Amino acid sequence: MKIITIVGARPQFVKAAVVSRAIAKAGGITEKIIHTGQHYDENMSDVFFTEMEIPRPHFNLHVGGLNHGAMTGRMLEQIEAILVEEKPDFVLVYGDTNSTLAGALAAQKLHIKVSHVEAGLRSYNMRMPEEVNRILTDRVSSLLFCPTQSAVNNLKAEGYDKFDIRIVQTGDVMYDAALFYSSRSRKPLFNVPGSFVLATLHRAENTDDPARLSFLVNSLNDIHRKVPVILPLHPRTRKKIEESGLAPEFQVCDPVSYFEMLYLLQQCSLVMTDSGGLQKESYFFGKHCVILREETEWPELVDEKINFLYHTLPSFTDDVVELSEKRVQKDKELYGKGNSGELIVDTLKSF
Ligand code: UD1
Repeated sequence: MKIITIVGARPQFVKAAVVSRAIAKAGGITEKIIHTGQHYDENMSDVFFTEMEIPRPHFNLHVGGLNHGAMTGRMLEQIEAILVEEKPDFVLVYGDTNSTLAGALAAQKLHIKVSHVEAGLRSYNMRMPEEVNRILTDRVSSLLFCPTQSAVNNLKAEGYDKFDIRIVQTGDVMYDAALFYSSRSRKPLFNVPGSFVLATLHRAENTDDPARLSFLVNSLNDIHRKVPVILPLHPRTRKKIEESGLAPEFQVCDPVSYFEMLYLLQQCSLVMTDSGGLQKESYFFGKHCVILREETEWPELVDEKINFLYHTLPSFTDDVVELSEKRVQKDKELYGKGNSGELIVDTLKSF
């Protein structure tokens, strides 16, 4: 069996690390990796391949730093050429980025089966580029690997049980990654206080709306006066903050590696983020998370009152400080058993 894996953005490297390891362990499958180049800085891309021992990509497309249409279009054209040449049995795509959509579309148009890891997630906010990518990718896939029960429910509500598409609830590959790599966490080179809030910010709906960005930076400044805040800065956010003239008073640093992020997750008191991945990683490490968005694709943690959408906190700064003093009970298997990678590979082999 031959599989082409398509990755391009930071969270996809973490997810692919889990499945690629399971593919190698299972034997009998040839995997080739296409890196679209959507994320290209050394600290957004290369460090993940080195640290997590992901096989080096066979194809590098270098399609980064473009608007959505141009980015997706150029990826589509180049991925198609590779698929025509390689004739894989499956194309494996991850998550919700432009690289995910380009890979899925190129494959389906060539009648190559698409399997989507992290299928069925919905924010029900069609203004998010990620939501458009998810919906379209799910619809052209043959195999949908869902991380949660709510993801399966979303697909059923959209009528997916009437389509010729197989849905499998596998658990979350990011949970596998956290379990597998947590003992390799590494302290970053900068100063890390004893107690701190770990924050990240990169979603277009936060960074590209000046009023929203200003509210968030000023709120983090307020919180920092009570509990130190550390924010590894995504290049998109750095650019927008510089253009806006906003002045973060909290500690910002360059993007950190996955092993450094694991250290920060282990040491922090609370997570505040608009990232999909960190919303669950905070839970894996027993911390509450304040979600810097209006809605989430991971509602189970909000239902459990472990994560909180920021606008539902009546007194934002005080509530954040209070949450940072509490720890989380992890007594439910919301994200599987840590064997999602194996389940995905077993399903691919028997499909
Ligand atoms: C993308 C995904 C998002 C995912 C996120 C993870 C889409 C639509 N969005 O958002 O779903 O959660 O990745 O980080 O696919 N840049 C650099 N260096 C890099 C990478 C990016 O300078 O290594 C710059 C780009 O040139 C661009 C900006 O950062 O100006 C944003 O990058 P982009 O690829 O558009 O999307 P993300 O915001 O990272």
